[in-house]
Amino acid sequence: MHSSEELFLRAQQWIPGGVNSPVRAFNAVGGNPIFFSHGKGAYLWDVAGQSYIDYVGSWGALILGHAPEAVLEAIRLTAERGLSFGASISAEADLAEKITTLMPNLEKIRLVNSGTEATMTAIRLARGFTGRSKILKFNGGYHGHVDALLVKAGSGLASGGIPDSAGIPQEVAQQTLIVDYNNLEQVTQAFIQHGKDIAAIIVEPVAGNMSCVPPLSGFLPGLRELCDYYGSLLIFDEVITGFRVALGGMQALSQVKPDLTTLGKIIGGGLPIGALGGRRDIMDFLAPLGPVYQAGTLSGNPISVAAGLVTLDKLSSTPHYYEDLSNQTQKLVQGLLERAAEKGIALQGHAIGGLFGLFFTQEKDIYHYQQVRQSNHTLFQRFFHAMLAEGIYLAPSPFESGFVSSAHSDQEIEQTLQRADKVFAQLQLTSCVAMV
Ligand SMILES: Cc1ncc(COP(=O)(O)O)c(C=O)c1O
Repeated sequence: MHSSEELFLRAQQWIPGGVNSPVRAFNAVGGNPIFFSHGKGAYLWDVAGQSYIDYVGSWGALILGHAPEAVLEAIRLTAERGLSFGASISAEADLAEKITTLMPNLEKIRLVNSGTEATMTAIRLARGFTGRSKILKFNGGYHGHVDALLVKAGSGLASGGIPDSAGIPQEVAQQTLIVDYNNLEQVTQAFIQHGKDIAAIIVEPVAGNMSCVPPLSGFLPGLRELCDYYGSLLIFDEVITGFRVALGGMQALSQVKPDLTTLGKIIGGGLPIGALGGRRDIMDFLAPLGPVYQAGTLSGNPISVAAGLVTLDKLSSTPHYYEDLSNQTQKLVQGLLERAAEKGIALQGHAIGGLFGLFFTQEKDIYHYQQVRQSNHTLFQRFFHAMLAEGIYLAPSPFESGFVSSAHSDQEIEQTLQRADKVFAQLQLTSCVAMV
């Protein structure tokens, strides 16, 4: 049997950085990434047999926890009838109907293979539909690794954004305007300067990639108003929040109506999937009906669709599903904040549905990316590693959200809090020593 360290060394020989998605490399927290062997319910087991209560849940995809029986059964039955046909099956329309019924503003939907594909297609569609080229996104917002969306703020709005990765042409980045999340004034200024060229705003309606930062009241309705006034489209990227914060996503909670919505993660029940949906007139601009091209060899593949359907059936048929999920998440976050406070550690948090964020900072109201950047990342690293040693697996970065599943019962939450108590005591002790 090989240890995580040995497996990571081997993986680095054949895979750049040893991982197939960068955050898995633990760069933000240091140390060796854990290699897992299996998961069940709220738990993961690493290759050495150590168990962890998991608050990553495959980055939010596993809302029912690991390997739920009903999903496994659907996958087995479907797989036996063929893995993929590259042609239509009836279950694609079942899933499309299910999603459009459960989410308030989706009249039609196109299935793709990842969240990145969904946002890439959504902005192409917005550009094709409006005949405009600029996209407005928010500092600290992540929408997958699409060229036009992998852009950070430049020196000013007039020049547009600058590439956040090598390999993205300046000309592409310049078409992306970047402003601060929860700062309607900046969005307004951007529209005053560029309104007639802005095809769409793309926004995570709860920011889930700067830890978890909810919108201030008035922010999402303000975006809607600006889009209406300037004839731009509003895209809600609900790849994280869809079926996570409520059955109808953040658009149901906020009552703000996006023109387009992107989805992923939960709608595939843990298998690869993505989707974009929205107003019928816009969606009909997609090929083969319209002039905006999009395609995919494995799009709408039977296995992902079957897993997604069973998952959404569970979410929509279980009484009080989201009420219970929210309660567990609240219990966890409140419990952590109280225990940290008892030890004199400044910790803040947000919880919404099955999504949460933790911030080591004295500041009380965390609603801005700058505040998240300025929180104490060194303390987060120590907290992360101490929790890991206690068998609690949190996302290995202070910029990622935490995810609670319906497999997290009172027992797992209570155990997490007890272990966190120990961890906060250690952190308190080491901070005191460091201060002397
Ligand atoms: C809000 C958001 N949009 C899009 C994506 C991209 O999804 P994927 O990783 O499936 O390409 C992510 C990934 O985490 C995300 O958090």
